[in-house]
Amino acid sequence: MAEWIRACGVDDIDTEDVVRFDHAGRTFAIYRSPDDRFYATDGLCTHELAHLADGFVMDSIIECPKHNGRFDYRTGAAKGAPVCVNLKTYPVRVDGDQVLIEVSP
Ligand code: FES
Repeated sequence: MAEWIRACGVDDIDTEDVVRFDHAGRTFAIYRSPDDRFYATDGLCTHELAHLADGFVMDSIIECPKHNGRFDYRTGAAKGAPVCVNLKTYPVRVDGDQVLIEVSP
């Protein structure tokens, strides 16, 4: 069953940036877009499992730090070589000053 869990505080992420969040043996990436919305994806690149939180956010794109693969973090869509498998995304909501993500098993 899916559950909402606290990923970070709103102020823990700058706009157009990403942070890593680990929970129950899994790793996630939490993003804050330039228009001040929050998004969550799996934290590891689908190419060779680099941590995406070490990458760069540009507009709606996360660029992987290892081979510069790109994903749209809003949808998880792979945006070009060498990545070809989409990222899993998770629902996000803001509750006061907390960012929550809905994690499915
Ligand atoms: S590990 Fe991310 S592009 Fe290769």
